[in-house]
Amino acid sequence: MPTSRVLGYDAGMEPDIRRFASLADLSSAAAVAVAEVAKDAVHLRGRCSIVLSGGTTPKTLYHLLATAHRNDVNWARVHLFWGDERWVPADDPRSNVRMAREALIDHVHCPSEHVHPIPVHASSPDVAAREYARTLHTFFHAADARPDLVLLGMGRDGHTASLFPKSPALDEQRRWAVASFAPVEPRERVTLTMPSRNRARNVFLLVAGSDKQSAFAEATSGRADPHHCPVAMVQPADGALTWWVTPMP
Ligand code: 6PG
Repeated sequence: MPTSRVLGYDAGMEPDIRRFASLADLSSAAAVAVAEVAKDAVHLRGRCSIVLSGGTTPKTLYHLLATAHRNDVNWARVHLFWGDERWVPADDPRSNVRMAREALIDHVHCPSEHVHPIPVHASSPDVAAREYARTLHTFFHAADARPDLVLLGMGRDGHTASLFPKSPALDEQRRWAVASFAPVEPRERVTLTMPSRNRARNVFLLVAGSDKQSAFAEATSGRADPHHCPVAMVQPADGALTWWVTPMP
């Protein structure tokens, strides 16, 4: 499989952990890998679906994809989704879609109908989650249709996307997306569920920050309590999980 060639990883093996001296180095290497995944997906299936992460860590990666690697991706064939969204207007500075638009989407030729944000104009997070689940179901309903790449971050408490420790959303097995609560502002969120993420062909977990050592150690120990360290539940069923990390003392 081309993705195995790119990542050197087969399902069932230990996660591939890549360590970098700085966020800049991490982002450069991840940008090359994102472009490779996109190239392979377009070559094999005619399109590439990428689920974007929020948070601050992927911003440098998005910037590199919009500049140095802009011509390495056939953006006309790329579909963009989000792994989670804060329940704020799309133009709010805390919005994940706003960050991705400013760092990436506004600078590449990705057709607007290929950009699939979580509908924060809906009447509630629950309604938005149902609407987004329909969007995802429609796009990925075919048997072999699954996200080519899911980008994720991790918080120092082991949360990923908006799946926080002890959240009931962690137990959702059926739906693509649900409303969830964060212990920090903005508290109301919409998030993809774990089974949605674990359908991915590739998951890139981007982790930068010296305060994340303990969650990283737990997540990669093979003995994590998933309700205490949700990121440990990220285990693509038939895909490749790659950790991209900066030094954690
Ligand atoms: C969000 C995220 C969240 C994020 C982590 C890491 O919307 O906040 O999706 O899960 O990825 O909190 O955030 P940093 O990259 O800012 O450390």
